[in-house]
Amino acid sequence: MGEKRKIVVTSALPYANGDIHIGHLVEYIQTDFWVRFQKMRGNECVYVCADDTHGTPIMIRARKEGITPEELIARSHAEHLKDFTDFQIKFDNYYTTNSPENKELSEQIYKAAEAKGYITRKTTPQLYCEKCKMFLPDRFVKGVCPKCGAPDQYGDSCDKCGATYGAEELGSPKCTTCGATPVVKDSEHLYWELEPQHDYLEKWIPDHTTSDVSNKLLEWFKEPLRGWCISRDAPYFGFEIPGCKDKYFYVWVDAPVGYIASLKNAGKFEMWNDPNVELYHFIGKDIIRFHCLFWPGMLNSAGFKGPTKVFVHGFLTVNGEKMSKSKGTFVSARTYLDNLPPEALRYYYAAKLGGTTDDIDLNLADFVQRVNSDLVGKITNIASRGGQMLQKKLGGRLGTMDEEGRALVEKCVAAGETIARHFEDRRFNQAVVEICRLADAANEYFDKREPWKTVKTDEETTRTTLTAALNAFRIIAIYLKPVLPAYADKAMKLFGECEWTWASAGEPKENCALGEYEYLASRVDMKQVEAMVEAAKVKPGESGEVSHESRASKNKREEKEVSGEVAPLKSEIAFPDFEKLDLRIGVVESCETVPKSSKLLKFVLDAGSLGKRTIFSGIRQAYPEPDKLVGKEVVFVANLAPRKMSVGVSEGMILFAGEPGVNGGVLSPSSDAGAGVAAT
Ligand code: MSP
Ligand code: ZN
Repeated sequence: MGEKRKIVVTSALPYANGDIHIGHLVEYIQTDFWVRFQKMRGNECVYVCADDTHGTPIMIRARKEGITPEELIARSHAEHLKDFTDFQIKFDNYYTTNSPENKELSEQIYKAAEAKGYITRKTTPQLYCEKCKMFLPDRFVKGVCPKCGAPDQYGDSCDKCGATYGAEELGSPKCTTCGATPVVKDSEHLYWELEPQHDYLEKWIPDHTTSDVSNKLLEWFKEPLRGWCISRDAPYFGFEIPGCKDKYFYVWVDAPVGYIASLKNAGKFEMWNDPNVELYHFIGKDIIRFHCLFWPGMLNSAGFKGPTKVFVHGFLTVNGEKMSKSKGTFVSARTYLDNLPPEALRYYYAAKLGGTTDDIDLNLADFVQRVNSDLVGKITNIASRGGQMLQKKLGGRLGTMDEEGRALVEKCVAAGETIARHFEDRRFNQAVVEICRLADAANEYFDKREPWKTVKTDEETTRTTLTAALNAFRIIAIYLKPVLPAYADKAMKLFGECEWTWASAGEPKENCALGEYEYLASRVDMKQVEAMVEAAKVKPGESGEVSHESRASKNKREEKEVSGEVAPLKSEIAFPDFEKLDLRIGVVESCETVPKSSKLLKFVLDAGSLGKRTIFSGIRQAYPEPDKLVGKEVVFVANLAPRKMSVGVSEGMILFAGEPGVNGGVLSPSSDAGAGVAAT
């Protein structure tokens, strides 16, 4: 094998405001195949990724949940990493774009472009919501299409007629967050001009992308390249642009810089610009423009090396259609894992991915069939039949192979470089085809030698047969290790080994003890798939919004948060934190139970000059007769951001101390509002 290569690999950074789903996994799983393959080949390969944490949707989502963006992204980071880990996707570093390294590098790259004169300023009219106090991004306004008159269209394009336009052209625009009618305001924005790098990029693109990708991109080069807008107005969760107060880097500026920041955080920063290091980005076809146009332009402006190649994959369809929430095919990583083993999806994706930009289809019936017939019936079967027979009947010792057996094993060894070539070129499907061919040969050998018969009469012939069959399986498992790492680890233990590299395939095991046969892979059942689809279904009436946490756990958390359950003392807060609370008195106008909730009470307070406030409070247990609270005065937090809960919007928080149903009660300036239970 040639010299040890040095390689940095990335997958696109998933947005922090959504769950990882099986579409994303097409990317992370294939990147993981490739990285694991490189490592097995003895190359130094570093796989970095991160959460993409900035932007308006994250800010809005945090607001809605009544938490800070930092809290939201910390929660996502933990959940994403858990999903990836459970799918056996192994990063060398999984970081965040909201990091000091990223801020510094983003500023550095921006300043270099500014010094080169690539950054320009333009003033444009933009919609502004006076109620939300923010400029509205395209997807945060809806109105009447200026071309065809269709109502309820987003601010960038019309679903009905396909027209694209500026949000300020919409008829009767409405803010999608609060429903108010926005006004038009001028705002100055920064643009990153690409035309100065026209020639550089025109030459760069075909050398670093595949021809289908570059042909498409190069169409734009017939005209002067348009600059891209890199600034966003406050409030924005992101990095402020140096020297531009209240202007923030558009998330797509600092997101790819997050690759370098993650590498830096891993202590391998010097690898980025090292001319001996290869650098590869795995991305989906929806983000080509950012990775093959803006990004190499950014890097080049600042004297950074660009990627060696950008590997672009297609999109996942399920049963031939776009993933759908109502059909239950928009499946989160967690919902999948709740119902099915990760190996099955890894195996199926490997069988389908050919290293092109074509979409890949997860046909659920085919998925069940292929996993069962190939992975379980064909491949694993060799080990389970052979291993168990050797254990139970022949004292668990491998012997030597005869000529026929050796020929089988040599065939497996000889296929190694072809399979390696397929992995290297990301033709995982071809690698799987070759591997299955080897498994066919091993099964044929096994069946022809009929060890289940010979074991009754001739132990040593049987041992010879099983030794060859198990060695063939061993090699197959080595080749499958990039796809099925946990499976391969169990197989490795069966042979009593402690490390498999690609070269291990050439070292058969003879005359040694076999370890305990461990269950390697189980059949999947269509019932499990059906249960998964059922769990993923968004029922009519429910919002189609990508839920960050499962509905059930979200509801649970909401109830917990408002319930005032007695918990360990929280950490100390500073006086300025306390001072932020605006406590007011309200008179309970109505108080009623909430259908289907064992904990919530719905209050309507008359808050004097503040008007009426609806507040949901998880203290039902303390007040078996809620209408007894009517007319009482209660203290509530009046400046808490409104929170959308499953039962409605809660506009504040009623103060309650103690444990509901035990000794708790709402705080009341008039002293007779003690808890129903405590009062009896
Ligand atoms: N945050 C950006 C990427 C920034 S990289 C500097 C983003 N995030 S994403 O969460 O929307 O997507 C992450 C990756 O998953 C992208 O490469 C995207 O193409 C891929 N996929 C998302 N949905 C997918 C499918 N349904 N099918 C296949 N890949 C998909 O884009
Ligand atoms: Zn608004």
